[in-house]
Amino acid sequence: MHTPREILRDLPAHRRETFELRLERWWPDLHDAVTALYPDPDAVAAALVDVAARGFVARSEELHRLDERRLLQPDWFQRPEMFGYACYVDRYSSTLKGLAHRLDHLGDLGVTYLHLMPLLRPRPGDNDGGYAVMDYRAVRPDLGTNDDLRDLATTLRERGISPVVDLVLNHVAREHEWATRARAGDPRYRNYFHIFADRDTPDAYERTLPEVFPDFAPGSFTFDSELGEWVWTTFNEWQWDLNWANPEVLLEFADIVLHLANLGIEVLRLDAIAFLWKRLGTNCQNQPEVHAITQALRATARMAAPATLFKAEAIVGPRDLLPYLGLGRHTGRVSDIAYHNSLMVHVWSMLASGSAALARHALGSLPPTPPNGTWVTYIRCHDDIGWAIDDGDASDRGITGEGHRRFLSDWYSGEFDGSWAEGVVFQYNRDTGDRRISGTTAALSGLGHSRRDPDGGFARIFLAHAIVAVWGGIPVVWSGDELGSPGDPDWAAEPGHEDDNRWVHRPRVTDADRARRFEQGSDAQRVFDGIARIARVRAGLPMLHAEAPVEVLPDVDDGLLVVARRHPSGTLVGIFNVTGSYRSFPYSRLVESGLAPREVLSQHELVADEDGLTWLPPYAAWWIV
Ligand code: GLC
Repeated sequence: MHTPREILRDLPAHRRETFELRLERWWPDLHDAVTALYPDPDAVAAALVDVAARGFVARSEELHRLDERRLLQPDWFQRPEMFGYACYVDRYSSTLKGLAHRLDHLGDLGVTYLHLMPLLRPRPGDNDGGYAVMDYRAVRPDLGTNDDLRDLATTLRERGISPVVDLVLNHVAREHEWATRARAGDPRYRNYFHIFADRDTPDAYERTLPEVFPDFAPGSFTFDSELGEWVWTTFNEWQWDLNWANPEVLLEFADIVLHLANLGIEVLRLDAIAFLWKRLGTNCQNQPEVHAITQALRATARMAAPATLFKAEAIVGPRDLLPYLGLGRHTGRVSDIAYHNSLMVHVWSMLASGSAALARHALGSLPPTPPNGTWVTYIRCHDDIGWAIDDGDASDRGITGEGHRRFLSDWYSGEFDGSWAEGVVFQYNRDTGDRRISGTTAALSGLGHSRRDPDGGFARIFLAHAIVAVWGGIPVVWSGDELGSPGDPDWAAEPGHEDDNRWVHRPRVTDADRARRFEQGSDAQRVFDGIARIARVRAGLPMLHAEAPVEVLPDVDDGLLVVARRHPSGTLVGIFNVTGSYRSFPYSRLVESGLAPREVLSQHELVADEDGLTWLPPYAAWWIV
């Protein structure tokens, strides 16, 4: 084990001891992780410990106290009072300073976790919504400064809100200093990227690589005229993939992690984490090394700033998802939180098909989350929705994955007869037939600009939020959805956005929009109050702590999704009618230990008819304790 005595030298004895105890605790995780990655693990592990020690020395008193508080309550992010919101700072409040004055809106919604979309300095011009970073140590100048970010984090902490920011790990902007130096021929920095003199190797990889942006950025490699060579660019041609097989890249990012943690950021969203490791003959996603990288970064962060959590943004099939929370040798050692993409997809799938059969099968067969991890659950985020329906799950239910995916695209683009949805097709892939969908929650639920089915829309919006909030984990609401925003009709008018219709569901939320929730009877008021109610009720239900497993009940009417959360304090049963008609459920199954069941979310009185059945109205969402 390597002890960084020199770096810690000037600290008071008790602080030094704290670091040494953490080092002892995390060294095995760290060493084990780098052993799986690099030929000289001892040197890499020692260098990471030095990074951790420097970050620890630089950490403020207040953040050291936060570390203590989190260590005393390690399940803080799994508790039912966690409720999230995600927004672009400029679209919500123009600046970081402005955001600090607009927190009542979030407080009233019940928010305790705030994801601020990419806010580090991006390349000029189109930058994929900030996901092409040119400087990880500076805030986007129009939003403010590092000091503003630190001040905002302090204010949020005082209000019981944990700040979350993106850490883009897979690629940097072509204008990032590392890429500029690589183009200038510096061998050290060329080795930060995947650069190829000709098409031979790229062609070999392309044989098994899927397309991420087939419309506006086909292929995964770009010929850079200044370089005169090919460079790996999974996403846009100005997003250069990093070479994580080079330990220097890991060291750089370990340092960036602690820089952000020391500004007071509590959760780092590990962007596009699935793509980090490249392996010929594979789709270059979800490779085992990705988990070793996360483990190394996490062990480093735990030594210096244990209040910091990692959230994996791995939008992958259900089978590949669980390892991001830790399976096998990485159990409990990788990300603390991961996006539950499958749940999101199945919520939309249930609403369109009016059947919970496929969702029940797919969600019910997912293994439970490890005890120290949990999900981010959501209905919408800033990205398009890709119909990640597993072919195996579909064929088990007697349908084809391809057919169901086609149906969902038809439904949510509004092409299907009888559809209430007004989404738009994003990235039509002619080879695979895939059509992903953009659109706000309201637009996809019937409350879009042409209000195809407003009453059903309200019910579906409430229902969808009630499902993701019952699941365990952190439910996150996407900005604008809390006000029932139908989307931004002028999205294409903004320079650089014209080809990317994901901007349709990234509307600006102004003070005037926020004020609308006080107008009785407005869409904004109805949706906001409904979601705030879900957050409020949830916060008081110990059964919704992430430690209580989610059980999907198999033997019920296909129109119902029924979920049980069993906890020592009692059981909660969530019953969700995903159809537009009345559905019944046997009352006797709701009676536990002779106690009368109570519906706490919609405040529905529970009664049994002469056949012993209780009837749920269309799109009802019941939480029964
Ligand atoms: C993630 C982001 C997405 C972005 C991509 C590339 O998937 O959510 O918006 O385009 O990464 O950084």
